[in-house]
Amino acid sequence: MNHFQRKRGQLYCEDVPLAELAEEVGTPAYVYSQATLLRHARVFKSALRGLDFLACFAVKSAPNLALLRLLVAEGYGFDIVSGGELFRATEAGGDARRIVFSGVGKRADEMAAALDAGILQFNCESEEELEQLSRVAVRKKTTAPVALRVNPEVDARTHPYIATALASSKFGVPAARVRKAYRLAASLPGLRVEGVACHIGSQIANTKPFVEAAGKMRELLLILRADGHEILRLDMGGGLGVPYGDGPAPASPKQYGEALVRALEGLPVKILLEPGRLLVANAGVLLSRVLLTKEGHRGRKFVVIDAAMNDLLRPALYEAFHEIEPVGRPRRGAERVDVVGPVCESADVLAKRRRLPPLSSGDLVILRTAGAYGMAMASQYNARPRPAEVLVEGRSWRIIRARETYRDLIRGETT
Ligand code: LLP
Repeated sequence: MNHFQRKRGQLYCEDVPLAELAEEVGTPAYVYSQATLLRHARVFKSALRGLDFLACFAVKSAPNLALLRLLVAEGYGFDIVSGGELFRATEAGGDARRIVFSGVGKRADEMAAALDAGILQFNCESEEELEQLSRVAVRKKTTAPVALRVNPEVDARTHPYIATALASSKFGVPAARVRKAYRLAASLPGLRVEGVACHIGSQIANTKPFVEAAGKMRELLLILRADGHEILRLDMGGGLGVPYGDGPAPASPKQYGEALVRALEGLPVKILLEPGRLLVANAGVLLSRVLLTKEGHRGRKFVVIDAAMNDLLRPALYEAFHEIEPVGRPRRGAERVDVVGPVCESADVLAKRRRLPPLSSGDLVILRTAGAYGMAMASQYNARPRPAEVLVEGRSWRIIRARETYRDLIRGETT
């Protein structure tokens, strides 16, 4: 369910015509629907009723301050993976006691900043990280609340680039070494063991891998408690997928919630969750304009738009599918085209062999489901200023990140 719908043939975001937005802010631009984001935020939380839980939004998926602030108001905490994300989370008004710090490598200054802020928990991913965090905490004469991220070795059946709990993955501590790693954590000065964590991957389509991981984590938690560790929290990570329109729809938040509640209820701990994509993906689109059409070898048709892989990397990096639609009333007929950007890379293809209504120069299009890991992964490659971001609420809208300028491109550089 999202608020990018057609009215009298024209695509709107809530009550704002996208064509009007394109005139006002230019293209390419990321456009977010506040109503969609809030709806998802609420659906996710209500799906987990029955558990004592805290939802920590994965900042990496959509780090804009305005979006983070909306989630703060909905009672969300944050899952961060860098000092920069800590800065964003606190700038957005996030409560440090609702922040978990994930990631396979944290610098000492990032650990120190998170200790100063007073975050809820560090999710440590190796023995060496425990030792480093211990040193930083001792130096600061404080105690770091820690959980170990365990690799539960379940196959999330997702794209290999975003599966994180395979035996070959860099993430987490292998299950076989977990008890020993907890003994180490308990013995190190400046650390207080408080939790256990996992995250098995992203864009996961069905509930089975989550249930499998929850079962393994439940067992582990009871073992760790029996070993004498006072585990207060179980962090199950994020990862539930969203429909991109190129296959069967993933499990719904309701099904996910029911499965998790069943697998985890009765455990005497607080459950942490780190959803990212699920909340924001369908709340955002990338709005772009057709520059021209051209014909290639053997009649292959290209539609060149003003958004490119630097603006939305997912198709180039994961061969991800994003639905493309004209903003104006779709012309009659359909043709098979490659939708490409202007970047000088063969990988700069946003849609391959896609059946679309005829498009021509000047037409506006949207790429749907771009709210998560869209702007978040945008770059200035080819010296392309990053897009503007716009937040729509009913009939009104505002720019929540200005389009970058050429000056922004050279900021900090000297000749
Ligand atoms: N927690 C941790 C520790 C994570 O590494 C991630 C995502 C999440 C939570 C949030 O997962 P989500 O609910 O969004 O699936 N750039 C890729 C996705 C990379 C995901 C990285 N980790 C994409 O565009 O598909």
